[in-house]
Amino acid sequence: MEFNAAGCARPWISGLDVYEPGKMQEGYIKLASNENNYGPSPQVVETLKKESERVNVYPYRFRQTREKIAGYCGVKADNVLLGNGSDELIDMLLKTFNGPVLSFRPTFAEYRLVAGILDEEYDEINLNDDFSFPVDEFTSKAENAEILFLCSPNSPTGGVISEEDVRKVLELGKLTVVDEAYVEFYGKSVIPLLKEFPNLVVMRTFAKAFALAGLRLGYLVASQEIVELLSKVRLPFNVNSLALGAGIAAVDSVDYMKETVDRIKKDRDILFESLTGKFRAFRSEGNFVFADVSPMKAEELFDKLMEEKIIIRCFGKFDGFEGEYVRITVGTAEENRRLVEVLDGL
Ligand SMILES: Cc1ncc(COP(=O)(O)O)c(C=O)c1O
Repeated sequence: MEFNAAGCARPWISGLDVYEPGKMQEGYIKLASNENNYGPSPQVVETLKKESERVNVYPYRFRQTREKIAGYCGVKADNVLLGNGSDELIDMLLKTFNGPVLSFRPTFAEYRLVAGILDEEYDEINLNDDFSFPVDEFTSKAENAEILFLCSPNSPTGGVISEEDVRKVLELGKLTVVDEAYVEFYGKSVIPLLKEFPNLVVMRTFAKAFALAGLRLGYLVASQEIVELLSKVRLPFNVNSLALGAGIAAVDSVDYMKETVDRIKKDRDILFESLTGKFRAFRSEGNFVFADVSPMKAEELFDKLMEEKIIIRCFGKFDGFEGEYVRITVGTAEENRRLVEVLDGL
């Protein structure tokens, strides 16, 4: 029997691209997905072992994890919603609220991808040539949009949007999502603006500083009304019990995370200096460094590092920008030493 699956699919689905994650190969140093290569705290690992004996039971610590995260963020549990990674929160936001969506380029690809999956109108403006945020252009373009995505610190560029500029965007009164996936490496959050702006949603993840990428735990902080609306769209048990338990343990052992973040920030400076010697590197507030490696091709650098068993993220060209771009995650001190040694020898 023949079956025309594409003919049965929603009309826009066949034209979508499949998300390409950073490459991974056993035995290689992986610096492609902005994970924290120091790994989670011993307390998290211990909790995971205990929780694994109880996976016969449906996840039940949703509320407790929300409370724990609320304490970490200085808000109430009713202002916190958990997702299966922040990727799922983007999906919930776009299912719940009307578009069109506006963001900028280059930024985290998932806003555009989820909009595509839901057949939602998506538009983006280019960042400035130095990858800073063009606030005036963004606010004028935002008049035609209903959901605005701002990523700060931004991936892949590492730049941030000032609080003043975030305010200017919020003053438009549109639903504004600030993706703070890398906030722990930056140290400044816009969560305090929630008191003034009920249209603000701050989205975060345990995948980066807290080193729980494999467990898929993200959260957002917003008004109780927004959280209640999103909760209607949330699938039952969207976050598994290992992730819930690990989230609690991660916040309980927050000092461990902070120590690894401090080390990563020191190594970020070392990597930046090494890259600057050869390429055009950009100051970053995340756990990664973005660089224009032209006239070398991004792919050429990627291949050279692969030969040395180091995996980075290769972007190549961006529409509307000169250059050949890569993004390199700051790994452990030892991994960074090896990387810098290879870079210096190029
Ligand atoms: C800016 C940004 N937001 C969100 C995410 C995804 O987070 P999660 O793993 O929680 O889905 C990433 C991951 O690379 C990211 O760079």
